[in-house]
This record gives sequence, structure tokens and C-alpha cells, in this order.
Amino acid sequence: MSAEKLIIFDTTLRDGEQSPGASMTKEEKIRIARQLERMKVDVIEAGFAAASPGDFESIKAIAGLIKDSVICSLSRANDRDIARAAEALAPARRKRIHTFIATSPLHMEKKLRMTPDQVFEQARLAVRYARQFTDDVEFSPEDGSRSDMDFLCRVLEAVITEGATTINFADTVGYGVPELYGNMLKSLRERIPNSDKAIWSVHCHNDLGMAVANSLAGVMIGGARQVECTINGLGERAGNTALEEIVMAVRTRRDHFNLTLGIDASQIVPTSKLVSQITGFAVQPNKAVVGANAFAHASGIHQDGVLKARDTYEIMRAEDVGWTANKIVLGKLSGRNAFKQRLEELGITLESEGEVNAAFARFKELADRKSEIFDEDIMALVSDEQHSHEGEHYGFVSLSQHSETGERPSAKIIFTAGGKEVSCSGQGNGPVDAIVNAIESNAASGAELLLFSVNAITTGTQSQGEVTMRLAKSGRIVNGVGSDLDIVVASAKAYLSALNKLYSKSDKLNPQQV
Ligand code: KIV
Ligand code: ZN
Repeated sequence: MSAEKLIIFDTTLRDGEQSPGASMTKEEKIRIARQLERMKVDVIEAGFAAASPGDFESIKAIAGLIKDSVICSLSRANDRDIARAAEALAPARRKRIHTFIATSPLHMEKKLRMTPDQVFEQARLAVRYARQFTDDVEFSPEDGSRSDMDFLCRVLEAVITEGATTINFADTVGYGVPELYGNMLKSLRERIPNSDKAIWSVHCHNDLGMAVANSLAGVMIGGARQVECTINGLGERAGNTALEEIVMAVRTRRDHFNLTLGIDASQIVPTSKLVSQITGFAVQPNKAVVGANAFAHASGIHQDGVLKARDTYEIMRAEDVGWTANKIVLGKLSGRNAFKQRLEELGITLESEGEVNAAFARFKELADRKSEIFDEDIMALVSDEQHSHEGEHYGFVSLSQHSETGERPSAKIIFTAGGKEVSCSGQGNGPVDAIVNAIESNAASGAELLLFSVNAITTGTQSQGEVTMRLAKSGRIVNGVGSDLDIVVASAKAYLSALNKLYSKSDKLNPQQV
């Protein structure tokens, strides 16, 4: 039997972004969308247009730039959200409106305070209205896996009659178990008379660590032909189904799944690195496919086996998913043209010549201090450049710090606050603590530090350090990321970037918490 296609629907920019601290700027979202297009993702869910004016503008910009993937916006099942999604998607070559409403007894009663009949009617009318803007409409019964089967059949049959072309069976709270989830989907498709008029999709959360297994059961048992997923499994709580794991499972076990994919797997690792760098969510070393150890055969026995015959311990090839040995790509003598060309090869499009110049100046500065510049360094410096936008309240200028065995570390920092340079000093338990105390002596943010992590961007002690600082204040959580050869400088940049995000009062709606 000829293989059917499995559609890959990426929701890193929507469900992934709902993860506390993962919010991204428009420029960052555009960079990720371009990379997803490069990886040949079929559908990119670019956001939730009604969340905020910023989200609306990001979707609109992505819709205008991306040509090969379908661009989708989420909307709750109401006319205002749907019209807003349609407006943001107007520039798209191919667009999809994804509307949803909760169907489980618990969500209907406690969250929506609606009767099942009201939910049924709202779902039907939402799909009917969305069809006025596009013939590509997706409907999700939120908390589908905890919904009553008879009610689900009634709602889903009605929305397909109204013109929904994709039905996305959501395991919103990660409650599903592979066999049960797959069989629920199978039963829905068998019981709903017009089920063949829609493509069925799976959307799973990872609360019990089964998102990928549930999604694949939905495909194999339930007959789903679309999987919704995120890069690195990013997402609220324990995250979403990881795109890289789905793609490599289906590709590596083609004998079992017998499905084709449009994805260019060699872009998986670059995409994973980009998302991690932008959001500040580090990838655990033992993470399948994209973790630093995923292809490192550390134990003696394995190494010996791999040297004798690769497939003794390797079921995939590192280079097939985009792992390359750290390559020295540029150096101190490289010119602007070579730098610009490498940006293009990495799929990084800077919007203006001014931005290229600023990034090139940073590159020169780095190359003066570091003899070998890798792709990862270039990606980090572009991210850093985008984090430190003009017009942001705080900006790093310089610092000095002193630490000596037996003495309390001290630090002095100069940074801009609202356009004015300020100089502050502080002491702390360590140099990073000292620099944060110095910044806080002026900023007095009152924010709580939830996470401080340092990662080496490449290998060796010459590597730049990439620091993430996660801050919380008044119920808002933000991540700041900074990179530098000096990890105290990287920490200061990350802290200032997090403060900038706290400063930019974003009144963003979470589509599922309202
Ligand atoms: O998890 C969920 O239910 C969702 C829906 C909005 C599809 O993300
Ligand atoms: Zn979700």
C-alpha cells in the first residue's frame, strides 16, 4: 500500500509560547518561523491573534513573509477572536483558522459555566463563521480525552457539517494513555458519519511523559494524519509532543509507520538550538534526538561497537538530524561579506542593513577576543543583538568584578536605564550574586529569581557562556538570555534582558485560561 502523508503542525509559537517565561518578541518569532519554513513544516501555528496587539502583529508579519507553510492562528469559539485571526492572517498565501472550545463536563461546568447544548451551538457557529474567511478551518474539542464520547460525536459531526476540515483531538492535560487515547480516536472516526470529510489530528501534552507515545497511538490506532507538536517539546507544564521525536520515530521506523513526511530532518538540530537560545529553555543533555548526549557514545563498550559497525548502537545518524562537528566558520580577518553570507547560509535574515552592521560590529568585537568563531557563536550574537533593542529601558555597557579566595566578591556595573548611564556597585556570595545586587541597588525591581542557568555554547573553555535568568513578579514570569565569553557579563546581560521584559507591560491573554 502506498504511504500516506503525515502532516506536521508546529505550535512552538503558540502553545510553546504559553510556557511561563517563553514569550518571544515579533523579531524572534519571525526568526523561528523562517527556520520552521526552512525545515519544511506543513503548518505553522503562529500565535493567538486576540491575545494582544503584539501577538496580532507577529502573526500578520509571519503571514506576509512565509510562503511555503500554511499559517494558522488560534481563536476561541467566538466571532471577535475569529475575525481578529482572519485579519492577522490576511496576507498569508495559505491560511488556517483554528478554533476551539472545551467539551469535557469539568471544563464546561467549572471553566466555561456553559451547558453542553450551549457549547454545541457555539462550536457550530464558530466553525460556520470561520469558514467565511478561509476554507481551511480546524476545530479542537479542548480536554477532548476527558469528554463524554456521545457528546463528542454530536459536536464533531456538527462542526464537520459546518465545514471544519481538520479535527484535532486534544489531550489538554496529558491524561491520555496510548492505547486508550488511540482507541478513543478510532471510535470517534468510526461513529461519526461524516468523519471521512476531515483530517484527524492529535494534540497531546506531556504531563505523564506520554505525549509522543499518545500521539503515535493516535496515528497508528486512531488513524490521525496530523500531529501537533513543538520544538524541544516546549510548552506549558511538562510541555507538548516533541516534533523531533515524532519525525525521527516515523522516519527511522518507516517499516512500522509506513507514512511519508515533508520535513527536512537535517534542520532539526539548528531549529532546536534556535528555539532554546531565544526562549532560554535549555535542552536536557539526554533528550532524544536533540540532546547533547543523544549521539555521544561515551561508554567504552559502545564506542568500540560503534567504531566496528555503526549500526551496532546507532539507529539514526547524527548528521541526518543536523548535528555537525563544531566547525570554525569565521575568524578575525573575515570581512562583512563573508559574515553576511554565513548569516544567509544559517537562514538568518536581518531586516535592515543597519542590523547587519550592528551584528557585524559585534562579530568583530567577539573575533578580537576569540580566535575561532563557530556557527553557534554567530547565532548567539544575533540573538543577543535582538535582545538588546534600542528603546529598551535597560542596556548593558560594561562591568568589572573582583573575587579572591577568602574575600567577599564585589562588582561594579555601568548600564543604561531609560537612556541615562548609571554606575552601581554591589557585593555578593559569588560574582554573579554581586552583579545582580549591583543592578538591583538601582533597579529595585522586587522580582524573584526563579532560575539561573549557564550553558556553554560550544565546547572547550574558550566557549561563550549562555545564561538564562528567569524572573517572576506580580504573577508574570519572564526569561532573559545573555551570552558572552565572560559568564558574569553574560549573567548581567541576561538579568537586564529579563528586567526589560518585566518592564514591557504585556497584557497577553492565555486562550485557555479565560
Ligand atoms: O491543549 C489544548 O487543548 C490546546 C487547544 C487550544 C488545542 O492547546
Ligand atoms: Zn495544547
